[in-house]
Amino acid sequence: MHLIDTYGRNVTNLRISLTSKCNLRCTYCHREGEFEPKEEMSLEDIAEILRVAKKFGINSVKLTGGEPTIRKDIIDIIKAIPEGMEASMTTNGTLLAPIAKDLKEAGLSRVNISIDSLDRERYKQISGKDMLPEVLEGIEAAVDAGLTPVKLNIVVLKGVNEDEVENFIRFAGGRKEIILQFIELMDLDVDKGVSNVSELEEDLKKRSKTIITRRMHHRKKYCLEGAEVEVVRPMHNKEFCANCNRLRVTSDGELKPCLLRHDNHVNVRGKRGEELEELFRVAVGRREPFFK
Ligand code: 5AD
Ligand code: SF4
Repeated sequence: MHLIDTYGRNVTNLRISLTSKCNLRCTYCHREGEFEPKEEMSLEDIAEILRVAKKFGINSVKLTGGEPTIRKDIIDIIKAIPEGMEASMTTNGTLLAPIAKDLKEAGLSRVNISIDSLDRERYKQISGKDMLPEVLEGIEAAVDAGLTPVKLNIVVLKGVNEDEVENFIRFAGGRKEIILQFIELMDLDVDKGVSNVSELEEDLKKRSKTIITRRMHHRKKYCLEGAEVEVVRPMHNKEFCANCNRLRVTSDGELKPCLLRHDNHVNVRGKRGEELEELFRVAVGRREPFFK
């Protein structure tokens, strides 16, 4: 049983927001479109969504937020992920160090950690909290626990952290367990803070000894000074929509056919069994490329 939309795109990934709450306030954060506090799905709701997703051949899930580690039942949620479904998590890393081992033991494969600066003062300016030391501990704990590869998400902000690229490369240099992802800022209103990431990518390309093309993501991986680096340009990738294989779930239990639309969600909160399966089909039926 597979979920293929009317544009022939096979849904193979689930991205599930566990909470809209976050302990940081990053200046640029789109918060996956969740700005007001919402009533969160229960552990049972989440477990049932995962079970049905697996039945439809979805073999990979990413846990997101808000900040997923804020949920008190995070370990139980991970334990509820069906056998054979690969699970990763996007986290700000501030609360990660004490639970990294438990997350791994519960079945989490790896983490993406958001870290936009290696300078304590600057980190505080961007994220609203003086928590860089905790994040750095979180990174080490994730590596030690085997939540690898640990991908560091760095949103490149014009005039703010563009000068830190070399620092990050030095930080990851020689560490096979760490991959850097420089991410272009997504801003639908104006391009005020948008840094020119294609220039950065050109520069990396020139300097890198090995370039690996990851066809699935239409993305290249550069290897320089012992560091693995990727550049992520969510909005400037012609294939962004054509290759989209994700279905999202909001923290209050709505299937979200498209990242950029808020008008076609399907509410599945509290739904179970065949009724939930049917609603998965409805949501996938509503999928259409935002950029055609
Ligand atoms: N543009 C690009 N990426 C963003 N993220 C959040 N807001 C934005 C945005 N406006 C991504 C970053 C961050 C993760 C939690 O979400 O990768 O690390
Ligand atoms: Fe947003 Fe992540 Fe920053 Fe929290 S840590 S405010 S979710 S970017």
